[in-house]
Amino acid sequence: MTNVVIVGGQWGDEGKAKVIDLLSEKADIVIRYQGGCNAGHTVVTDGKIYKFHLIPSGILYPGKICLIGNGTVINPEVLSIEIDNLIEKGIDTSNLYISPLAHLTLPYHLALDELSEESLQHNKIGTTKRGIGPTYIDKIGRTGIRVEDIFEKEALSSKLEIILPQKNMILEHYGKKTYEKQEIIEFCEKYAEKLGPYVKDISEITYNALKQGQTILFEGAQGTMLDIDHGTYPYVTSSNPISAGASTGSGIGFTHIRKVVGVFKAYVTRVGEGPFITELNDDEGGKLQEIGQEFGTTTGRKRRCGWFDSVGARYSAMINGLTGIALTKIDVFDSFEQVKICTAYQDRRNGKVYENYPSGTYVHKYLEPVYETMPGWQQDITGIREFSDLPGNAQEFILKIESLTGVPVEITSVGPGREQTIIRNCPI
Ligand code: IMP
Repeated sequence: MTNVVIVGGQWGDEGKAKVIDLLSEKADIVIRYQGGCNAGHTVVTDGKIYKFHLIPSGILYPGKICLIGNGTVINPEVLSIEIDNLIEKGIDTSNLYISPLAHLTLPYHLALDELSEESLQHNKIGTTKRGIGPTYIDKIGRTGIRVEDIFEKEALSSKLEIILPQKNMILEHYGKKTYEKQEIIEFCEKYAEKLGPYVKDISEITYNALKQGQTILFEGAQGTMLDIDHGTYPYVTSSNPISAGASTGSGIGFTHIRKVVGVFKAYVTRVGEGPFITELNDDEGGKLQEIGQEFGTTTGRKRRCGWFDSVGARYSAMINGLTGIALTKIDVFDSFEQVKICTAYQDRRNGKVYENYPSGTYVHKYLEPVYETMPGWQQDITGIREFSDLPGNAQEFILKIESLTGVPVEITSVGPGREQTIIRNCPI
């Protein structure tokens, strides 16, 4: 039994889906612990395309138990469509269970997310507009509607009686559409019928699994730098994608978690606003964007691109307690004459060098990356399956990341296919 958390080491979109897909085979249970349908990933298996926002991709392996944890926020409409799409493609969803404690993203949350972004004008967060922030605001404010509420008509009605006037007051003030209680109740009823069979106390399932020594894989969404506490606040998401979130978001004590694998791209991307010290606003950034096909899965936005930031990666290793790294998309560099790794930051105002990540974000706008330049390998590595078969310069690049982060690179991905992977040490 090696229970493993998979976390995004950067700003999300690191290729977690592929790593989770790869490791799911060896797990008994896969549990998604935070975030909502702001996340999106595509898995291509046997020529079929599967799009996921909330359901762990482990569902593609027959017999795996897939859980949506209490730490997530669920748009019932999106989840229903996701379930239907899987069933249509012949995937068995009878092993999917949803925590009754997860919070629901309802139509007014989407409207409030849109409104919040509009009102921030020049200081927008650049959210996915999927209602994530407003849903978590209600959770923390103790005015949220949880999955369990939609099966209790009277309780739901009396909760909405208090919550809706508050929401409508804001929406009305900004001239937006307001919501009737009946409209929300009907929305909830529609999806209560659909989702009902999947709702189950998941701690019972995980408790029994742990007793039997089964293996649990924790699926993080987004990334460390988008963490509400440890990320580049306020340009973050509203949950805890870091490894600690796996415990609160699933109800499984952290003493059961043995390993934490951080997924990092060989370069860095970010969607949305906020500081990004190694961002490239030149042809090289454009080349990364183009070769890496860096478009947001959920919103289709172009991702901002930059060189690998080992200062941020070290911080990520520290915050998450990483035991291993999965390095993805290294093949994107195949045609590059040289590659760079940021090893420190320098304050352009006074020359101060930061070897460690400054967590206060006000200073970030003054920081310039200090780079170490390494020769590229200018060779197609997408067919290589062993570390020792990689060109020397690619090996050097990986070893440099290991020495700068102090964490072993256990998995290296050299292409999108499941088999296009070099495993030096399997975490499960
Ligand atoms: P929200 O999570 O929709 O509130 O968006 C907050 C920030 O997180 C924005 O910068 C989004 O672009 C970013 N974000 C949210 N989900 C993802 C994701 O799955 N991948 C990458 N960025 C994300």
